Amino acid sequence: MEEKDVKVGLFDSGVGGLNVLAACRRALPAATFFYYGDNGRAPYGSRPAEEIERFVVEGMDALAACGVHAAVLACNTATAVCAEAMRERYSFPVLGMEPAVKPAAEKYNEILILATPRTAESERLRTLVNRFPGRRITVCAAPFLAGAIEARLTRGERFSLSEHLPPAKPEGVVLGCTHYSFCRREIAAFYGCEVFDGCDGTARHLLNILKLGPSNHSIPPLTPSDPVESCQKIGEGRAIFFGKTGKMNEAVYNSNVCSIF
Ligand code: DGL
Repeated sequence: MEEKDVKVGLFDSGVGGLNVLAACRRALPAATFFYYGDNGRAPYGSRPAEEIERFVVEGMDALAACGVHAAVLACNTATAVCAEAMRERYSFPVLGMEPAVKPAAEKYNEILILATPRTAESERLRTLVNRFPGRRITVCAAPFLAGAIEARLTRGERFSLSEHLPPAKPEGVVLGCTHYSFCRREIAAFYGCEVFDGCDGTARHLLNILKLGPSNHSIPPLTPSDPVESCQKIGEGRAIFFGKTGKMNEAVYNSNVCSIF
């Protein structure tokens, strides 16, 4: 399959996966992307696992109806809760997010992972952390940070980042939630250390899964749709947003490296 024929779906509870979308567009500029952000029900991070899985199925069904060749759970929480179930449910490959612990552990000893409560307590993250027994890795839930970022980007509500960050002196911070990438620079400044996220790693994984090499296309401007309820209503486009409610901030869409402060 040629890159221009590829259709990829991305799912997130809201805006966080746009950071993954940006990375995937850099890797596959000629592909068509469908983005489902369930921003009417974000954040997911403290919801029961069964409820999260039910919401993810709704979004993934909408993406499947678009005929995607692969889908990305551009949400660590959804990945932690139901990546395996989604792989069993759909015939196309379903990629999940993996917090970038490996690159952080290759460089540093003292590592802080920030995540939503559901991700922080997950078996999946515990298994990942256990792969690096020689490192001092602390997992901290930031229960309200994803919601604050979502509210900032969809409703313009301001918040103080430092109130959401646990005190620590890490050598490296791993972002275990795709929403947090919007504050990547500020988190790096707060802790005075390097910050890692999984967006580019996921985009590389997507290229491998689709068996495509590096692209020689340039990145086209993004033409986001208005939030719509069903994929029947949409026409052709490079990236299409299926929000349940709310208005997306176009600047968020169009920034490749996002920062909200
Ligand atoms: N962006 C998501 C994640 O990576 C979800 C955050 C949330 O909805 O709480 O976990």
